[in-house]
Amino acid sequence: MNVKIVYDNQERHGFQHGWGFSVLVNDSLLFDMGEDDVSLRANLAQFNIELSQIMEVALSHEDWDHIGGLDLLADMPSVTAVYVPKAFSLEIRDKIEKLRPGVRIVDVYKEAVEMESGAIMTPQLTGGRKRKKEISLLLKTKHGVALITGCAHPGLTRIIRQARKIGKLQAVIGGFHGFWNLPALQGVKLIVATHCTKRKTAILARYPTQARAGAAGMELDLSGL
Ligand SMILES: [Fe+2]
Ligand SMILES: [Fe+2]
Repeated sequence: MNVKIVYDNQERHGFQHGWGFSVLVNDSLLFDMGEDDVSLRANLAQFNIELSQIMEVALSHEDWDHIGGLDLLADMPSVTAVYVPKAFSLEIRDKIEKLRPGVRIVDVYKEAVEMESGAIMTPQLTGGRKRKKEISLLLKTKHGVALITGCAHPGLTRIIRQARKIGKLQAVIGGFHGFWNLPALQGVKLIVATHCTKRKTAILARYPTQARAGAAGMELDLSGL
């Protein structure tokens, strides 16, 4: 299993950066779409990914830095389903339908939803000062699950609790926002903190062998987890 970071505020040589987040799983499942479609397109191309390889899209929440690259959906002919939190606005739903006519918009609400690829979307949680609604991605690994978050507005500790109901938590990748409960990451083998993580330095200091800072252009091999 392979995860490529295709959008982040940090970048590796040859890749573009912007505020926001996007990852590509097994070259076919795109989770979140960053701040803009130009950098997202360039980073996918830099990884030698054709847009037609992408079969499924999931959007964690409606913030601009996660749906800003949505226009790229028009150039992804193989996408059959887009997974969104039930709370998504009509405006964005209309936009998705216009960009990819006939696509299935799958609402994620109180129950976890299994995607066609076998990945799982966690139930919608509400949280943060602005009561944002967000869903996260769970990948089944050899020994448990890997959790991928957008911004973790409802609180990473709560999302980790959801993940641990499904399997042993082996990896956490994504935006951790204001997460401060560092002991909650105990036992996690791979921690990759990206764009909006406020306590990146503290996380890296506490888990020096497991944690690293994310960047566009980073490729993560989850096959041993
Ligand atoms: Fe956000
Ligand atoms: Fe974000």
